[in-house]
Amino acid sequence: MVARVSTVSFQGIEAVPVDVQVMVAPGKVGMQIVGLPDKAVAESRERVQSALHASGLSLPAKKVTVNLAPADLPKEGSHFDLPIALGLMAALGAIPGDALDGYVVLGELSLDGTIASVAGALPAAIGANALGKGLICPLESGPEAAWAGEEIDILAPRSLIAIANHFRGTQVLSRPVPAMRAAPANIPDLSDIKGQETAKRALEVAAAGGHNLIMVGPPGSGKSMLAARLPSILPPLSAPELLEVSMIHSIAGQLAGGKLSDRRPFRAPHHSASMAAMLGGGLRARPGEVSLAHNGILFLDEFPEFTPQVLDSLRQPLENGESVIARANHRVSYPANIQLIAAMNPC
Ligand SMILES: Nc1ncnc2c1ncn2[C@@H]1O[C@H](COP(=O)(O)OP(=O)(O)O)[C@@H](O)[C@H]1O
Ligand SMILES: [Mg+2]
Repeated sequence: MVARVSTVSFQGIEAVPVDVQVMVAPGKVGMQIVGLPDKAVAESRERVQSALHASGLSLPAKKVTVNLAPADLPKEGSHFDLPIALGLMAALGAIPGDALDGYVVLGELSLDGTIASVAGALPAAIGANALGKGLICPLESGPEAAWAGEEIDILAPRSLIAIANHFRGTQVLSRPVPAMRAAPANIPDLSDIKGQETAKRALEVAAAGGHNLIMVGPPGSGKSMLAARLPSILPPLSAPELLEVSMIHSIAGQLAGGKLSDRRPFRAPHHSASMAAMLGGGLRARPGEVSLAHNGILFLDEFPEFTPQVLDSLRQPLENGESVIARANHRVSYPANIQLIAAMNPC
């Protein structure tokens, strides 16, 4: 019998549905994962076997084949562990075969059967909601996923045993509640600045209108200080903006404890930043600083020290509000609607 579990793969901040098919059949004993898995996905075999063993379920002496469909879409990341393990449990009869039908599943497994947090729970929850399904995600990602909507069914178990108990009805899991990060108590405030009325006025105009700004002045004149105090006068994020910003931070794995914040992002990358760090990309596609600063501030201190390639590459995000990364094997785009603040010495 083939057990099927739905999960997702991330393209930019979009969650593309992926079908995990698990087949247990007579044949050469072992487990094989097919469907363009990357290294982290291929290694999931060891984690799944160990986690099932630690949860008191050993694999039968049969051939186990796991297929990740569509087979031509590259699969990246460690969040395929949990759908593979649950598919196996369904195939072995440890959980009811139809229990997983209404869910999208993502999560990483530890060797002892506990479920570790993964990046992307919020976009996955929004994707699941659009398909009319619920979500099974790690315990720590639950508060983040709960933001996707009131009506979506979310299970955030701590371990494989907890999810098995839930489906057997012995220990039912409750829905996680959406969490908000408390506003930081002591952010630098604009009132710290003495004098500099023109510079402060310029900052206020830039903050109100979302304008880009460059500050030119001799060392010690307070440029870095002024820029660091800009977040204190920015308006909070609106609800749709909050969700969009949080989706990017979720994909980048930067939502600590699954909590969202309504403060506008303020990113100040060092001038040694590479193209991939600034625009996103790399071998595994990741949002860069321009996208992490979406709906907020990108502050480039010592502006002329950045490499010319990096500065030139900012043109496209500034014009289009998105960062497009084209590589041989993928093409993704991340939102990058930023307010650019730069500071430089006159010469
Ligand atoms: N207008 C000001 N009000 C209060 N402190 C100031 C002011 N201008 C400069 N300073 C002090 O000087 C320090 C150096 O300023 P900084 O922002 O690093 O200058 P820059 O980036 O232009 O070289 C600040 O950390 C602050 O202590
Ligand atoms: Mg400075």
